[in-house]
Amino acid sequence: MARNKIALIGSGMIGGTLAHLAGLKELGDIVLFDIADGIPQGKGLDIAQSSPVEGFDVNLTGASDYSAIEGADVCIVTAGVARKPGMSRDDLIGINLKVMEQVGAGIKKYAPNAFVICITNPLDAMVWALQKFSGLPKNKVVGMAGVLDSARFRLFLAQEFNVSVQDVTAFVLGGHGDTMVPLARYSTVAGIPLTDLVQMGWVTKERLEEIIQRTRDGGAEIVGLLKTGSAYYAPAASAIEMAEAYLKDKKRVLPCAAHLTGQYGVKDMYVGVPTVIGAGGVERIIEIDLNKAEKEAFDKSVASVAGLCEACIGIAPSLK
Ligand code: APR
Repeated sequence: MARNKIALIGSGMIGGTLAHLAGLKELGDIVLFDIADGIPQGKGLDIAQSSPVEGFDVNLTGASDYSAIEGADVCIVTAGVARKPGMSRDDLIGINLKVMEQVGAGIKKYAPNAFVICITNPLDAMVWALQKFSGLPKNKVVGMAGVLDSARFRLFLAQEFNVSVQDVTAFVLGGHGDTMVPLARYSTVAGIPLTDLVQMGWVTKERLEEIIQRTRDGGAEIVGLLKTGSAYYAPAASAIEMAEAYLKDKKRVLPCAAHLTGQYGVKDMYVGVPTVIGAGGVERIIEIDLNKAEKEAFDKSVASVAGLCEACIGIAPSLK
């Protein structure tokens, strides 16, 4: 059987890390694409030269022409600009929307059957625009945010409790940004909800609130440390988990920015919700009951995503 083909559109810090991880996991042949000529070719060659050492058989190529992504099974989009200190994800909207228009056209022409994972920020608005620009089915275009946000939450919780990250699950809803909604009663240590752990004296409510806030600010904390760009190892690992779920039809239950058609009271928007990812793309959206406080926080998050989509329509009226 021929290998799968994975197109990485954008070969910067996340793109290069994606290529490395996809190679190590032998997910398929990899095409790195970027407008900066030489970068995708150079990174592709460098990673390919690690393959005899690591022992993986995958073709890695770099290109600056969209025809190279032809027939891709998965496209992971990181093209655009990343944040610098002092910038919010929303500050990237003008530049990155134009990039999504070009990327959408390229995918529409050369990889219309692909499963598309968008990482470019501001995520919920960019994935919404990318789906419209590309015209691909809505269940085949998703945004990566929830896996990363919940990974950050899981790490901080595991460190707090001094337990394995493997035994901590986390549940995060809403947009990728300051309004994301980590749900304590659905986040657990080996099945024990955080709300119970508060009662058991493992953590105080106040400390838990601090951890939740650190999770919301997880991206900004790294931007502040790096100073020259934003996080890339954990975002890349998160998107690879989603790609693997699709390629191997694993039916993973993963939080993703998915197109909603009335679930949670939201229509024609991408917002972070629990989904099932398998060979059909987003095969199911899981709708849970939210209590009053959770619903308020979720609605606030949705309103901020809606504001970004409106701003996009202001720049590109064809998105309406
Ligand atoms: N087409 C293709 N590639 C492009 C385009 C375009 N129109 N415009 C920019 N790029 C490329 C850049 O040349 C660069 O190599 O996108 C790449 C982005 O890489 P980085 O600047 O290193 O950014 P990275 O850290 O990878 O983040 C990418 O993901 O998490 C988000 O906020 C982050 O929006 C940012 C994106």
